[in-house]
Amino acid sequence: MTPLSLQEFLSREEALAGSDPVLTRLLVGISEACKEISAKVREGALAGVLGLAGSENVQGEEQKKLDIISNDIFVEAVARTGAVCGMVSEEVPEPIAVPEELPLGPYLACFDPLDGSSNIDINVSIGSIFAILPAERPKRVPAPQDFLQPGRNLTAAGYCMYGPQTILALTLGRGVFLFTLDDVTGTFRLTKENVRVPREAKEFAINMSNQRFWEAPVVRYVSELLQGKDGPRGKNYNMRWVAAMVAEVHRILMRGGIFMYPRDSRNPERAGKLRLLYEANPMSMLMENAGGASTNGHERIRDIVPNSIHERVAVFLGAAEEVETVTGYHKA
Ligand code: F6P
Ligand code: MN
Repeated sequence: MTPLSLQEFLSREEALAGSDPVLTRLLVGISEACKEISAKVREGALAGVLGLAGSENVQGEEQKKLDIISNDIFVEAVARTGAVCGMVSEEVPEPIAVPEELPLGPYLACFDPLDGSSNIDINVSIGSIFAILPAERPKRVPAPQDFLQPGRNLTAAGYCMYGPQTILALTLGRGVFLFTLDDVTGTFRLTKENVRVPREAKEFAINMSNQRFWEAPVVRYVSELLQGKDGPRGKNYNMRWVAAMVAEVHRILMRGGIFMYPRDSRNPERAGKLRLLYEANPMSMLMENAGGASTNGHERIRDIVPNSIHERVAVFLGAAEEVETVTGYHKA
């Protein structure tokens, strides 16, 4: 039997769980944006999308051409659904309004249109991340305040990974589902249901080159993992670092593990590298819906009330037992 298409899956969710048809429209719009980005990624140099754009984003990071192209595709596709009344993108300093001629809807969308930008030019996995929040009341000009909700408010979240296959991961708060893009028909089809992340793990991901800048609890935790069978954890661990959060989270959903991006002393005023609204929160919702956990070392990420739309946060997510251990070390 042909696996369900994303549209069929979402219609089933409407019938079984009473999810909102407007949300379906929004998620289908996002999947269309991902399909378009996937096509550009595949063409690479042939489409002239590689290399630098010659500008910087709000965080002072150099923008790649594909960062900007993906942002434009996302903004347009999401606005067109008529399901939102505002958007926040990693690439744009202020909240983005829906153009005058388009209708407003009851949701707010936050996205990182192209995650793992340093992988673009070397043909390694990249992705898009999205988070859907309810809007208190639809209005033409969105304010930053509208988006400053804790991640536990999220209605839906997911990512699309542009790797050997293009895979969309989605949660509506009732488990995690994976859809693989059939490039021939242009259809995302359900290829894995109810993904589960085991409580225990044997694999970790952290950028080890930053070790000298970490805080003591992280140094302790990682050094114990590195001691393997001879250390307090009593087992050997493997390490991976793809340098694209989408790819790290996807690996954890497929075979377990823990991912960390702690705060460090290079920028003491910065709480971490990853952004709360469109990286940490959606990935935390996916992890929790797959039985994993996610904290900033001190508290559940989805309980943090943001102060600004591009706020950064330290991230420890994946296997519940590992996340509990490293979070416990922050309390010791
Ligand atoms: O978006 C930030 C990001 O690219 C993540 O996708 C990734 O996990 C991380 O930064 C990579 O960081 P680093 O440059 O330290 O390897
Ligand atoms: Mn990113």
